[in-house]
Amino acid sequence: MPHRASFYTFFTYPKAMAPFIVIEGIDGSGKGTQAELLGKRLESVGVDVALTFEPTGGPIGKIIRDHMKDPFLDDRSLALLFASDRIEHIRNEVSPALSEGKVVISDRYAYSSIAYQGQTVDPGWVGMINSDALRPDLVIILDMGSSEVKKRIKDRGTTDCFEEDLSFLEGVRNMFLSISGGEYLPGNLMTRFLLLDATEDPDRISDMIWNVVSSICPP
Ligand code: TMP
Repeated sequence: MPHRASFYTFFTYPKAMAPFIVIEGIDGSGKGTQAELLGKRLESVGVDVALTFEPTGGPIGKIIRDHMKDPFLDDRSLALLFASDRIEHIRNEVSPALSEGKVVISDRYAYSSIAYQGQTVDPGWVGMINSDALRPDLVIILDMGSSEVKKRIKDRGTTDCFEEDLSFLEGVRNMFLSISGGEYLPGNLMTRFLLLDATEDPDRISDMIWNVVSSICPP
């Protein structure tokens, strides 16, 4: 367990140095749940938190969501739209929150673009069009195999165009595993990675995330 002093150091850093944390994983891996649990834990020790997500709720995110329901875009156009939505996400949500001293927890980021769009478009090009995105301080990847994904998506009942194709999701999963080892990443997306088994008990996953988050300190 981290020493209490490390919480103190972490939470009293200058405002602009609050950490930017990203949670990634295939659909149904429990990202949203873990983002919320982490946010609540941080708030319970007096830390201000901003929870964000991609695709965003802004105008470009809306085009993307419309496409996901009933695809009409070329895969390269979609990759560019995700990169563009990300620029707006950073400008309108992430950067302002960090400069107010809030810890930002984003449900998905550029790693999703490399993992998903990289299935049908050159992942090196997808990395390149995201090569000036803000570097996160920590990326948590929730890993899960496609048979468990199938079950969870079925239980949840909703699907987008990617969730329907299990072999595609298996490819995405493998890409996330490669990304956690630093493959396909432009320099700005190289950071600390925490790869976790998403089939573990959610409270146990939350504890493992907390152990790492409470021990990272900005330089
Ligand atoms: P969500 O289910 O987490 O809301 O994400 C919506 C879908 O968008 C999901 O199928 C993954 C996909 N996606 C990409 O393909 N590329 C990206 O860059 C992002 C952020 C999401």
